Amino acid sequence: MNVMILGAGGREHALTWKISQSDDVDNIFVLPGNYGISKEKKVTIVNSKNYQNKDYLNFAIQNNVELVVVGPEEPLVNGIVDIFEEYGIKIFGPNKNSAMLEGSKEFCKDFFSNNNIPTAHYKTFNSTVGLKEHIDSQVMPIVIKVDNLAAGKGVFIVEEKDECLKIAKNLLSTGYNGIAAEKIIIEDFLKGEEASFMCIVAKNKQIIPLTSSKDHKKLLDGDLGLNTGGMGAYSPTNLIDDKMEKKVIDNIIKPTVDGLAKMGIEYTGFLYAGLMIDKEGNPFVLEYNCRLGDPEAQSILMRLDCDLFKLLNKSLDVNSQKIKIIWKKSHACTVVLASDGYPLKYKKNIVINDTGTDNNNTKIFHSGTVFDGTNTVTNGGRVLSITALGNDLEESVRNAYARVGEINWDGMVYRKDIAKKEIEKKFIFS
Ligand code: AMP
Ligand code: GLY
Repeated sequence: MNVMILGAGGREHALTWKISQSDDVDNIFVLPGNYGISKEKKVTIVNSKNYQNKDYLNFAIQNNVELVVVGPEEPLVNGIVDIFEEYGIKIFGPNKNSAMLEGSKEFCKDFFSNNNIPTAHYKTFNSTVGLKEHIDSQVMPIVIKVDNLAAGKGVFIVEEKDECLKIAKNLLSTGYNGIAAEKIIIEDFLKGEEASFMCIVAKNKQIIPLTSSKDHKKLLDGDLGLNTGGMGAYSPTNLIDDKMEKKVIDNIIKPTVDGLAKMGIEYTGFLYAGLMIDKEGNPFVLEYNCRLGDPEAQSILMRLDCDLFKLLNKSLDVNSQKIKIIWKKSHACTVVLASDGYPLKYKKNIVINDTGTDNNNTKIFHSGTVFDGTNTVTNGGRVLSITALGNDLEESVRNAYARVGEINWDGMVYRKDIAKKEIEKKFIFS
């Protein structure tokens, strides 16, 4: 069978690598992919610059594609699933209405509130009317979020009321740090530990947990510096044990799927809840993503011990019996190597001296690379995501950093403390 995968990052490299291992798969077209992805078995990279939804559909029809897997949120929010479903080509991901959970923070927050799903208290503003009074009545710090998609740059945690008012006003008018918004949400700052819970919501209504993982969103060691797309991850995490997984499914995921169903919206695809778990062990949703996390996907897919292509296909079949998923007992750790300056301005086209080699325990996923005819060069903020397995968390971390030590380019930056908090039992409740 022919598969088409949309996206260009480390998550899509991991999806491609895992799907290419299936005996059922003949060809994989990745649009637009990256250099690392182009090196995987069965893969053809397709330059899809300026493609609209109808161009993806035409490509799929012309190339006998039987399954489409969508990596990033943007095409999902733009309704690519609806177009493929209407034509009758299988596509894995939520439709446009379901992807609103990620596409609009206001929709998502109102949905939580209407369905008693635990989240931070919030208020939405589409103008500055009442803004100052509201901010004055809040306990600092508070969180400002832009309603629309902002590629991870739309969240501001602010300590001072004056600063908060300034940022909020700017966001609603000319913009702040290059981000502008028609609507903003101002919400309470929640204290606790963050973890990522991802699952598949299958057409047979089954919720299939995709083990547990933890991201490291801040740029610098010790969770300092700017927010990024994610600087490293590991899986599993003690933050989500079996009891917590049940709580998350019962109190968050099931009410979400049921709440959407009541609105006539059927959710299918990956669903990712960014959680904050408080000191008492109560999970709150910070945000929903309608896709896998990056770099969490790299860690979890390294641990997946069954055929991903078959798993996705079964998940799209309304008649599937109970779908089983198998995980390796090993732990996985992913360290993201990024360009100096990320998540703001950074240089591209820097020669990577050695991109390293894969072995049984380690996989070098490419997040932003291109081949310039002679060398592999950087082509993004996040460049490589080095992922390693180990018998325990410590070993997976050691294996990942051992491989990191073999790679370098001018301006390579990375966090040196991935998983340290868990290993040193520094969580607020450990
Ligand atoms: P989001 O894109 O909504 O996940 O927000 C990005 C990051 O901002 C999260 O990973 C948290 O670290 C932080 N954050 C977002 N909302 C809150 C909140 N209500 N309380 C505390 N931290 C938050
Ligand atoms: N790693 C966080 C995200 O993918 O949104």
